[in-house]
Amino acid sequence: MKTSNAIYPGSFDPVTNGHLDLIERGEKMFDLLIVAVLRNTEKQPLFSVPERVEMLREVTKKWADVEVDVFEGLLIDYARKRGAGVILRGIRAVSDYEYELQMALMNRKLEPRLETVFMLPGEPYSYLSSKLVREIAQHGGPLEGLVPPVVEQRLRAKVS
Ligand code: PNS
Repeated sequence: MKTSNAIYPGSFDPVTNGHLDLIERGEKMFDLLIVAVLRNTEKQPLFSVPERVEMLREVTKKWADVEVDVFEGLLIDYARKRGAGVILRGIRAVSDYEYELQMALMNRKLEPRLETVFMLPGEPYSYLSSKLVREIAQHGGPLEGLVPPVVEQRLRAKVS
């Protein structure tokens, strides 16, 4: 059953198979799923925002109800601008819970009409993160099954 427009925000540096698993689940639930890349001036990313957006567009192009966008500033302001009523976030393990709870409650305080929906990624992705993927790539380790092939190619080129 589809209910409303949702935003799936994140850094996506780079998009992993865990993100894709969540996008696939979210796409089935919402009329429109906006995958929103944060333009964050504080973090030192591996991939630029345009590179991350390009990879995300490539790996989500099969889903008509998925859009990739960039946002800056507060997520609640972006959600208002996009007319979205739901923030989608993934929780992999208990370790994610504290940070996610804090963000969800703060977002609720700032904008009570915005709901955060948590989803569990498939089990094979419960220990997967962009940070670990970057580390494995930097040391030339195997990335099969962790990221889509196009992302693996970009990672190899980036660290070579
Ligand atoms: O993939 P990440 O880095 O865990 O995503 C974090 C993100 C982008 C969801 C979070 O940093 C965010 O929403 N930033 C926007 C600024 C904001 O609204 N901050 C207040 C949140 S309580």
